[in-house]
This record gives sequence, C-alpha cells and structure tokens, in this order.
Amino acid sequence: MRDRLPQEFVVLTIFPDMFPGPLGHGVLGKAFERGLLGLDVRDLRQYADPPHYQVDDAPFGGGAGMVMKPEPWFRAVEALRAERPDEPMRVILLDPGGRRFEQRIAHELREAGRLVLLCGRYEGIDDRVREHLADEELSIGDYVLTGGELAAMIVIEAVGRLVPGVVGEPESLVRESFETRALDHPHYTRPAEYRGCRVPDVLLSGHHARIERWRREQALARTRARRPELIEDENSTAVAARRSRTQSDE
Ligand code: ADE
Repeated sequence: MRDRLPQEFVVLTIFPDMFPGPLGHGVLGKAFERGLLGLDVRDLRQYADPPHYQVDDAPFGGGAGMVMKPEPWFRAVEALRAERPDEPMRVILLDPGGRRFEQRIAHELREAGRLVLLCGRYEGIDDRVREHLADEELSIGDYVLTGGELAAMIVIEAVGRLVPGVVGEPESLVRESFETRALDHPHYTRPAEYRGCRVPDVLLSGHHARIERWRREQALARTRARRPELIEDENSTAVAARRSRTQSDE
C-alpha cells in the first residue's frame, strides 16, 4: 500500500529558499516532478509568535550565541500531525550529536512514512525539542555545519533514491557501494585505451561469468584496501546473527 504513496519529506527551516536547491536536479528532481516524492518545505517563522515572529532567544545560564525557541517547533510538528493524523510520521532532528547517517538508516527511513526534518541554526535548539519532540537525531558526519539544511538534503537524497521508480535500473541500486557492505567495483566506458591506459581485458572479453567474478573480486579488494571495517562489521553482524539463531534453537 505504502509503495503507491509518494515518499513525503517535510522540512522545517528558517531558510526555506535553500530548497529544493540540489534536490531539484537529476533523477531526484524528476521524481519530485512526477509525484513519486513529495517535498513540503515550511518556514519555521510561520509558527512563531507575532508581531516579531522571533525564533531564537538568549540562552538561560548565559553564554555566547542564541538558542532556538521550542514553541515554533512543537507547533509545527503538531500542525503536521493534525493534518494527517492516521499517517505514520518520523520526526528527525539534524544534529552533529546524532546517530551517524548511513545507507542502512536510509533503508530504515524509507519504511518510516512521512519524514519531518528539523533543521536547526544558531548555537542550537532548546533541548526540549530533542528530548520530547524528535523521534531521533541524525548526524551526517563528525563535523559541524552552520545549520541542518544541507544535512537534511543529504538524507532526502539518500532515502528518496531508494523509492521504487526513482532510479532507472533497480539493479544499479543493489550493486552499488554499501548495499552489499562492500565498495563498488571499477567502471569503464569507451575508449578502450585512453592516454596509454587500457581498460582491463576481461571487460572486453564478452564472457559474462568471468566479468562477474572479476567485479566481485575487485569490489572485495577495494573494500579490504580502503574500508576494511566494512568487512569486519559485516562479519561481526553475521556471527551475531548465527549466534542468536543458535541460542534460539537451544
Ligand atoms: N547540523 C550541523 N552539523 C551537522 C551535522 N554534521 N550533521 C547533521 N546536522 C548538522
């Protein structure tokens, strides 16, 4: 049932003009146009109090910078819930202190219903938003950006392309890096020789089984050399799964 609904992303931000930005291009841009994906960008200020629509205030306890007030966030999320009370919705706060976003989480979010992305600015958001409003916090990496908007775009891009029909060939989704907990194999196109560098002969051989094997070996070798922890993680997940199966059989 859910697969026929568009995957909807709601962004709460004080900079709505930043969107769709890069999300308006390529296959993702087309998916928004075709209605496979929905993007609802809301200006947080519309949920602040008139006449000044202020969204920030000085921190209790003193210190530098401003803190985003809790009320506009709560009102916005409550308004969203009230609009479609029966629809599943996940509220995500983008924050460098959150769980590290990765492909596995993109799949998880793909199943979660309407995704509401809270993009903070200033020194941070009143902690009650994190504690009582957000279902979870996500970080896109161990560095600090000036706000959550770029992080939200990354989440939208990674989740959106998993929606059936968004990326042309489903096969390319399965093969690519991280889907198999391995990096992707090298790709080549014409010309077969460029500046003295030749495309590996096996790829020109037309021998599909051999090409498949070569690709698997290359992917594994690359992963071992560049990201060995992906293989270790995979092994420990498999060992843990085997162990829990054995325990439940006992
Ligand atoms: N906001 C600021 N820095 C961030 C990060 N690294 N990830 C997610 N949101 C952020």
